[in-house]
Amino acid sequence: MHKVSRGFIYFFGALGGILFGYDTGVISGAILFIQKQLNLGTWQQGWVVSGVLAGALVGAIIIGPLGDKFGRRKMVMASAVIFFIGALGCGLALGFWSLILFRFVLGIAVGGASTMVPMYLSEVAPADMRGSLSSLNQLMIMTGIFLAYVTNYAWSGYTIGWRLMVGAATVPAAILFIGGIFLPESPRFLVRIGKIDEARGVLGQLRNQDEVQAELTDIEEKAKIKMGGWGDLFSKVARPALVIGIGLAIFQQIMGCNTVLYYAPTIFTDIGFGVSAALLAHIGIGIFNVIVTAVAVVIMDKVNRKTMLIVGALGMAASLFTLGIAMHYSHNSMTAAYIAAIALTVYIAFFSATWGPVMWVMIGEVFPLNIRGLGVGLSGTFNWGANMIVSLTFPTLLAALGTETLFVGYGVLCVLAIWFVHSGVFETRGKSLEQIEGYLDKRAGVTSTAKND
Ligand code: GLC
Repeated sequence: MHKVSRGFIYFFGALGGILFGYDTGVISGAILFIQKQLNLGTWQQGWVVSGVLAGALVGAIIIGPLGDKFGRRKMVMASAVIFFIGALGCGLALGFWSLILFRFVLGIAVGGASTMVPMYLSEVAPADMRGSLSSLNQLMIMTGIFLAYVTNYAWSGYTIGWRLMVGAATVPAAILFIGGIFLPESPRFLVRIGKIDEARGVLGQLRNQDEVQAELTDIEEKAKIKMGGWGDLFSKVARPALVIGIGLAIFQQIMGCNTVLYYAPTIFTDIGFGVSAALLAHIGIGIFNVIVTAVAVVIMDKVNRKTMLIVGALGMAASLFTLGIAMHYSHNSMTAAYIAAIALTVYIAFFSATWGPVMWVMIGEVFPLNIRGLGVGLSGTFNWGANMIVSLTFPTLLAALGTETLFVGYGVLCVLAIWFVHSGVFETRGKSLEQIEGYLDKRAGVTSTAKND
């Protein structure tokens, strides 16, 4: 095994997020050109945009559980290969059907990476830094989205520009694959498959020498529990984790974050800004998002996850209500238009600092080791499914209800999210993964040995 630095492990461990962000972000600009060149109708455009979401839904549920079988690292690398094929195929697509096919392939990789990266990061990180290190995933996602906006802007003047935009993802995919060769496997997975010495070696790379043995003993204790199947996800022990995983995954999407990220330029023009101002505002939002997410990375282990989720949902609700009211008056008043633009930006800031990273961090840490891949995979699938429903219904709902009512509606869902977090989520900050698992056992009134029987 090659010895690499901790920084290398965290950087490449999180890099899959860049592809996730780039591929979901790039299409908003590229579609304008694809549609013209391939002569696509409205429903075809809808499918080109959401083909990745459909693929991701499938990728999460397939690749997540495979991570329990073959290891987190191998599945990150497999995602990189699928990414590469998907991005190349999209760049060279001959027409609508081949484009859809490769967008779906890309989606499988996006879904795989979206589950494997948080799981890998949470398993290599020390307990007191797990929040920050796991949220590097979201920082990479945001960076990917931002890079996509930049390439959208930079290559928009060329006929083959859209092919470059979508094909450019081959570069980070190749880098991720090469990085993966040198990444160590997660120590928790290694213990699970009985490779104790190798796990000790990896922990030695990641921790101070005096901490290794204690952590290894804790992991070994949990790894004795026999591997779980789908049914075990619904056991008394795992149920609270499942509620958190699926609940956070769905709420994160139905609060409307991606409508703003995918359709911000449309919303800005609707408010009354010109097209070029709207596109620039989009890039501005991209940069702003990266900065706010970086702040979240720094504070993640200092503030309770539940507090972050509740404050985030409160801020999102307040800004959505403001947005709805301001949009109502924005056609007659430039002041109202500016208030709407500010409310939109504040909404995104609250999301990026809280629900964006915290959801992925928490689904990577709440599930017991013996069903972690299944749990993360299923939660990821719900997240992508909810994402797809919200994205596909947004244009129709917008036409039927109007922006004001629709955004107020997302605001009401934010209020519901507060209730959910308050009543259904337990705190995980500062606890080791094994302590979280111990808490689930205690709550269900079982001991690890009893679970083994
Ligand atoms: C989170 C969401 C994802 C969204 C991204 C950027 O990762 O899960 O759907 O696109 O944040 O906002």
